[in-house]
Amino acid sequence: MFVASKALLRRARAKGYALPALNTSNLEVSKALFEAAEQTRAPLLIQTTESTIRYAGLENIFSLIKAMEKTSTVPVCIHLDHGKNLQLIKKCVQLGYKSVMVDASRHQFKKNLAVTRKVVRIAHRKGCSVEAELGSLGRIGDVLLTEPKQAKLFVQKTGCDALAVAIGTSHGAYKFQGKPRVDLYRLREISEVVSIPLVLHGASSVNKRVVQRANRYGAKLKGAVGVSESDLRKAIRLGVAKINIDTDLRLAFTLALREFYAKNRSSFDPRDALLFAQGLVKQTAIEKMKLFGAKNKAKR
Ligand code: G3H
Ligand code: 13P
Ligand code: ZN
Repeated sequence: MFVASKALLRRARAKGYALPALNTSNLEVSKALFEAAEQTRAPLLIQTTESTIRYAGLENIFSLIKAMEKTSTVPVCIHLDHGKNLQLIKKCVQLGYKSVMVDASRHQFKKNLAVTRKVVRIAHRKGCSVEAELGSLGRIGDVLLTEPKQAKLFVQKTGCDALAVAIGTSHGAYKFQGKPRVDLYRLREISEVVSIPLVLHGASSVNKRVVQRANRYGAKLKGAVGVSESDLRKAIRLGVAKINIDTDLRLAFTLALREFYAKNRSSFDPRDALLFAQGLVKQTAIEKMKLFGAKNKAKR
């Protein structure tokens, strides 16, 4: 049985660690994430975006993950990442997602609040946890970062279970222009007034060695840069209990495919390269679980 994210994340914040929330879009990545969680004895937060659902089909990706959960010996939560479409959020809740993100952060405060409240009402009836977002992701100076006072009010009024904050990170492999800057001071202010678990999006580290290795095998990833591991550790100390990682898994997966076919020119069995990719994704997930302190935190 899938578990809700609320208890997993509350425990993480209370004990000072975070769970990596890992995106999947296919069989190989899902297998890699389950194996990583089993090996490290970490609870697994596995998530699908709306575009993954369009790519794979909701029933297909859900059943795949559900089948893997049946034999898993660690707690597993399936989460909808960046739910913007209310109908789709409802479908996920009906189907058995135990955690959804309602991303209404593009709206004004009042509308964000109203949409989030509505999702909380629908999801909570089914024992499904809700993550909401306030502020918008992106470089400091370009976007609206989360205001601590607003965050407090927003959490009180919506009853959401976790809050994604905007403190200068952004999605993808090019997070900062110039010097990387994450507003940890703002995060401290938010964590002083918001006691529910905080969520950090756009948190991939875009490891230099991975980028260089990918470039060696034909990638063109010039100037890719992510969030430093030391900033992530500080963020965990400041109440972040869920750290979203997609880009680092994608970089590992695609690096493996490039490298495999460059080195094995006569291979034409896709399973060979996909198995190699699965291995690199698993290794990446294990590194995150260890770095965020989630190792050995699985309690059934
Ligand atoms: O929002 C997080 C993702 O990294 C973007 O995912 O391409 O599946 O929409 P997507
Ligand atoms: P990255 O692009 O940094 O991996 O962030 C992923 C994310 O926030 C998914 O919601
Ligand atoms: Zn995100």
